[in-house]
Amino acid sequence: MQGISLCQKYQDYFSIGAAVSEETIKAHGELLKYHFNSLTAENAMKFQTTNPKERVYDFRPADPIAGFAKENQMRLRGHTFVWHRQTPDWVFQEGGNPRDKQEVLGFLSDHIRTVGIYFRDKAYCWDVVNEAISDEPGEYLRDTLWRRALGDGYIETAFRTAREHLPDAQLFYNDYNTYQPEKREKICRLIRGLKERDVPIDGLGMQGHWGIGRPAIDEIRQTLDIYAGLGVRLQITELDISVYDHGDPRTDLTVPGPGMLDRQAEYYGKLFELFREYREQIDAVTFWGIADDATWLDQFPVQGRKDWPLLFDTQGRPKKAFDAVTNF
Ligand code: XIL
Repeated sequence: MQGISLCQKYQDYFSIGAAVSEETIKAHGELLKYHFNSLTAENAMKFQTTNPKERVYDFRPADPIAGFAKENQMRLRGHTFVWHRQTPDWVFQEGGNPRDKQEVLGFLSDHIRTVGIYFRDKAYCWDVVNEAISDEPGEYLRDTLWRRALGDGYIETAFRTAREHLPDAQLFYNDYNTYQPEKREKICRLIRGLKERDVPIDGLGMQGHWGIGRPAIDEIRQTLDIYAGLGVRLQITELDISVYDHGDPRTDLTVPGPGMLDRQAEYYGKLFELFREYREQIDAVTFWGIADDATWLDQFPVQGRKDWPLLFDTQGRPKKAFDAVTNF
């Protein structure tokens, strides 16, 4: 590898991460080592993978990721203990009947303890709770099986349990659409509430599944200003910039359409200029993938629609967007 290294270019600003799997590490090992100094397991450290059955833990999918991070002196983010997705049914029900509160509470704390301790010397931070805020107007917390089983206090319980076993880890709340004014209010309410009750929370993760030109840079700036006042560390945890506008009917592109990559580069450039301004608050910017050959956006929000949301193309070569974020 030669040329500008992304993480070196940003070494005085924040760390630069990528979400990975064992396969994408194999495909892009050299690229990862050269440009990134932080990793997140895209799926391998989630509940359904690490704790597929009651009392059964499986760290085989995560081990190669944690190993690669360690060998290459990269940081590792833990993702994620408590989420309404990718969590197995056995946690909440047995033989079709809902479990009682004490049982679910036991599973929650067993999970956080076992997984947390396993990765204690490997992961420096954890998304303790992911996506717990509702997107519905007027509704505060999302209606999830965790909340149905444990009540609103499950968030607080998760953070306290995490701190009990991980005295040194940075504990994060992580969510998407964090720039939307109503959701932003709810996120502030959650974090302020936790801090008022001395619940150990260190950071807020803004996922960053965005698109070209949306949200507007000013909306993100306002959002960073508001969150900066909460007294928690900030990270961009899952950045990718879809090349599609809302309502773009095309689902069969095999290469990016005219102008898409130029607009993407321009937006990425402005975004990172903004992030650099907020370097005192932002500790890490993590991309949700490495290169455009493997991105979850090929299946979301439109199944089978190819997207090109990252800084490296399908061959792992730097895109215009890469030049835009490193040209300063
Ligand atoms: C996604 C993964 O990228 C996919 O491979 C998986 O099928 C579903 O989950 N918010 C999160 C991430 O916090 O864990 C999600 O990752 C993307 C949205």
